[in-house]
Formats: sequence, C-alpha cells, structure tokens
Amino acid sequence: MTFYEPETVVCNGSLFRLYITKEQIDKRVEELADKINRDYEDKKPIFIGILNGAFIFQADLMRHVTIPCEVDFFKLSSYGDEKVSSGHVTELKELDADVEGRHIILIEDIVDTGLSMRYMVSRIKAKKPASVSVVTLLHKPDATKHYVNVDYVGFQIPTLFVLGYGMDYAQEGRNLAQIYVIDDETEEGIPPIVPNGEKK
Ligand code: IMP
Ligand code: MG
Repeated sequence: MTFYEPETVVCNGSLFRLYITKEQIDKRVEELADKINRDYEDKKPIFIGILNGAFIFQADLMRHVTIPCEVDFFKLSSYGDEKVSSGHVTELKELDADVEGRHIILIEDIVDTGLSMRYMVSRIKAKKPASVSVVTLLHKPDATKHYVNVDYVGFQIPTLFVLGYGMDYAQEGRNLAQIYVIDDETEEGIPPIVPNGEKK
C-alpha cells in the first residue's frame, strides 16, 4: 500500500511544506482512541463526523475504537473555497441517527474560529442527547472567535493554514496522507506542534 506523502506540494497555486508526519498522526490518533475507549466504556456512543474534512481522521480513529458504538455524519460548509472562514455555516446534510438520550462524540478535522463546532454542539444539544463531547485532530486556539469546549485534541497549532489528511484548499489536497502548512506564512520558521493540547 503506497500513500501519497510528498515533502512539499503545490495546491491551487500555493506551496505547502510537510508539517505533521504520518507517523506523528498515527501515534496521536491511537492515543485519542485509547482515551475515548476508556471514557466511553459501556456508553455505546454515537460518533458523528463533520463532513467533508473529518472523513479521514474519523476513519482512522474508528479503527482504534474497541467499544460498542455507532457512526453517523453531518455535513457543514463554512469555508467555501477560501483560506479564511466565510463567517457563516451552511447545513448540507442532516443526521440520520436519533440522538435523543444518547452519548454523542462530534468529530472534526480542525477547530479554527470555533464557528462550525459551536454551531454543531448547539444543534445537537437541541435534540436532547445524554451528553455531547468534541474530538478534533487539530485546534488553532489563537484563532478562536466563538468559544467551544474541545474535549479531545490531537495537536494544538498556531493560526496557519494547513492541508491534507482530509483538509482541503479549495477542495483539493484532502487525499494527502500527511499534514502540510502553507509556505508563505512561515518565513520565520514553523512553530512547533503541541501534542495533547498542552501548552509548552
Ligand atoms: P471554524 O468554523 O472557523 O472553526 O472552521 C472549521 C472548518 O474550517 C474546519 O472544519 C475545516 O473544514 C475548515 N478549516 C479551518 N482551518 C483550516 C485549515 O487550516 N485548512 C483547511 N481547512 C480549514
Ligand atoms: Mg471541517
């Protein structure tokens, strides 16, 4: 099996450099799943992925989930084809699952301004679940404009535009197996990623 993992990539005219390797991602995804397995034992949670960005992270995470659970999807759009959030959320696909009385785990690729996740949490809470928690592979804490509690974070990153592992630039680049950062914003060197959501 060969994954698509170049060192640099040009996507829609912009240059991106490797930022988080497949090895780092795999290790962290497994750690997140282990924690969720412990926290949700006997709770039969419903994992709800937010499409499109979450599809690869969700698939990898689910392969390490060993407790009984269900999986569903919700589709939102907030970026359009730009590198900054449009500032409003559009619903493109509703849930199929009945979430009332159930433990819900929302899955995101990246929480940036917090707009999409805050919207999703209130949308799900209105359906009267037993609980709602949030897992995201990446979090840009300095970009927060809409506060939302994030329970499980893969890596905290600075406010930089990233690509790959499900995340796109104008719909391209989702198929990259690793995570890349846009080159024109990193002249002073790329700040380090912070695993576990902990500050250095
Ligand atoms: P938020 O609503 O501003 O938190 O943005 C959340 C959504 O925007 C994420 O689910 C991603 O789909 C997209 N997004 C945010 N930052 C990036 C990025 O750096 N690269 C690609 N997509 C991003
Ligand atoms: Mg997304």
